[in-house]
Amino acid sequence: MKKIAVIGSGTMGNGIAHVFAQHGYKVSMIDINQNALEKALATISKNLDRQVSKGLLSETDKANTLANIETFTSTEDGVKNVDLVVEAATENVNIKLDIFRELDKLCPEHTILASNTSSISITKIGAVTSRADKVIGMHFMNPVPVMKLIEVIRGYATSDEVTKQIMDLSRKLEKVPVEVNDYPGFVANRILMPMINEAIYTLYESVAGVEEIDTVMKLGMAHPMGPLQLADFIGLDVCLSILKVLHEGFGNPKYAPCPLLVNMVEAGFKGSKTGEGFYKYTAGSKEVVVSSQFKK
Ligand SMILES: NC(=O)c1ccc[n+]([C@@H]2O[C@H](COP(=O)([O-])OP(=O)(O)OC[C@H]3O[C@@H](n4cnc5c(N)ncnc54)[C@H](O)[C@@H]3O)[C@@H](O)[C@H]2O)c1
Repeated sequence: MKKIAVIGSGTMGNGIAHVFAQHGYKVSMIDINQNALEKALATISKNLDRQVSKGLLSETDKANTLANIETFTSTEDGVKNVDLVVEAATENVNIKLDIFRELDKLCPEHTILASNTSSISITKIGAVTSRADKVIGMHFMNPVPVMKLIEVIRGYATSDEVTKQIMDLSRKLEKVPVEVNDYPGFVANRILMPMINEAIYTLYESVAGVEEIDTVMKLGMAHPMGPLQLADFIGLDVCLSILKVLHEGFGNPKYAPCPLLVNMVEAGFKGSKTGEGFYKYTAGSKEVVVSSQFKK
């Protein structure tokens, strides 16, 4: 594999483009939004600077990485002669199905089509193409240049050969791939989201306060961050939509989203990106405080 296209240049797309380009692959970064592409290039450059200042990369490595990335607003132009596409567009099933239908028509026959989706079925995505054997999940973690894991998700029809190619490629990116099957939430979110939901239920039932719950999990379980703060960083709307996928996919009430989570999302308190969730985030300040609605 030599040439890769990344669809979507947001939080995940720019990190995925960065990692491939840093490892010598030619990358087409594609987004429908020109501003998003410009912002992504600036973010990649800033993140490369950080790697240089830590002595992890040289200035030449930085220049070579940036030279490996080309940007496109047209998918047709961006996917010419690519060996792999990694789709990291907005998490919306209709957007993703449309993208994969289009990719199937535009890409060379040998091209593998991967999705970075957190919760949408790889089997369902594969089924709208004529190459379900070459459709696979590559679930990178945020921030992509730092996090080692890639959850490699095999759809119902994904072939052994394609799975092996993606596992090998992930190792070439100095990541650790883990192969899992395609069921709701895969492995990472199937385990993480019920934990976050249970933390929210614990707060909702007044068993303990926000800081107490997070402190128990940080100091008691050696988690780097408590589940409520983590939920704020992931985005409470994202947590809610993944819980809905688990709830509907398994038909099991144990995944039912906590009513407090539902209320917070409906009220617009979606976590750090909106400035407030379980905690309040003030731009430029390192101090994070419990949101006033949870203060006794
Ligand atoms: N943010 C995370 O922590 C995280 C972690 C793992 C996986 N994911 C998954 O990664 C994917 C992207 O998430 P994100 O947080 O980077 O989203 P984001 O909102 O930051 O970026 C999405 C980008 O996709 C672009 N886009 C939308 N439709 C497009 C199209 N048809 N063609 C090209 N570009 C298009 C948007 O303009 C935007 O720039 C989602 O599937 C999400 O579930 C996110």
